[in-house]
Amino acid sequence: MSEVKAVPFLDLSTQFRELEAEWLDMIRATGAKGSFILGPNVTAFEQEFAHYVGVKHAIAVANGTDSLILSLRALGLGPGDEVITSPFTFFASSEAIDVVGAKPVFADIEPDSFCLDPKDVRTRVTPKTRAILPVHIFGYPAAMDEIMAIAREHKLAVVEDCAQAFGASIGDRVVGSMGDTGSFSFYPTKVLGCYGDGGMITTNRDDLNDHIRRLRNHGAVRPFIHVEIGCNSRLDEVQAALLRLKLRVIQRDLDGRRGVAAAYTQQLASLPLTTPSLPANGTHAFNLFTVRIPDRRDAVREAFAAQQIGFSQCYPQGLHLQDVYRRLGYAPGSLPVCESATTETLSLPIYPTLPPAHIDRVCAVLRHALA
Ligand SMILES: Cc1ncc(COP(=O)(O)O)c(C=O)c1O
Repeated sequence: MSEVKAVPFLDLSTQFRELEAEWLDMIRATGAKGSFILGPNVTAFEQEFAHYVGVKHAIAVANGTDSLILSLRALGLGPGDEVITSPFTFFASSEAIDVVGAKPVFADIEPDSFCLDPKDVRTRVTPKTRAILPVHIFGYPAAMDEIMAIAREHKLAVVEDCAQAFGASIGDRVVGSMGDTGSFSFYPTKVLGCYGDGGMITTNRDDLNDHIRRLRNHGAVRPFIHVEIGCNSRLDEVQAALLRLKLRVIQRDLDGRRGVAAAYTQQLASLPLTTPSLPANGTHAFNLFTVRIPDRRDAVREAFAAQQIGFSQCYPQGLHLQDVYRRLGYAPGSLPVCESATTETLSLPIYPTLPPAHIDRVCAVLRHALA
């Protein structure tokens, strides 16, 4: 075994050191100007972000959860409406649907991508369905062509949850540019993360852009003039400054993540586990590197804990089976592909600067645990 002992799941310190001096200069400039909220860095970042994603508008908000809630609100979703989404995602994806008063309807996922299965989505459309909320989980782009076709057929809105997938693409389209809106999170662990909370909404629709800008700032059309009930969901200048610096080096970061993924895939090829598949006509952003271990997942988890290998179990329970959704009436076994994913998956350490020696050590512990 290699010399390396503990392998953290995530280490953001290398990138912090790299950006520290320039970021602190930007914070000083912000302090000197006294423009802390929705200032010049936010405006510039919104434009740079929209350019990257290839959309007309990007609206910065306080976090990824708000980016979903405000998108759903701007689309007019509320009580009596159903929104079809994935059960294999972070809770915020469905929580946002509840927050606006609509009802989440869970469809099963595909076994390879872990994203919504369009065939199952189709069977869940009812006269009350108003939107589909696909999640590009772990950085894998969901089957957007098929999902958009269902949406067109049934006149449904599409809210892309891109929180884990900044930079993933299908053909020449980046995630966040295909639905009515795209929602992003800048939580520190994300592909494009800040050092606090932050989020972004992308859209090509002028009406949604205007509405979301109003909603994020107390429903105001100009200072102290309010035309509807909104909220306070704004990105601050300090985070926007950092995100501008990180966006400049995002291609290198994405390449770094993809390099780590390729190394794992190669080293783990002969083991009884499945490494993430790559999209046939697109790119994976590898926010997480999630393997499927059909027989010995829990033994591997124990070995990782004993050997100080960081890991995450995303996700231990399908959302449809969570206590909070008991009222929706899903029984165990109702979404079998999701449920097998919850018992078989484990996410390995991945970040752009993960040292090769750490990859070797993770693979060595896996090899030993599965021998
Ligand atoms: C798939 C998904 N959706 C939404 C969110 C919510 O983002 P935030 O934590 O910025 O509110 C997250 C973040 O963890 C996520 O992973």
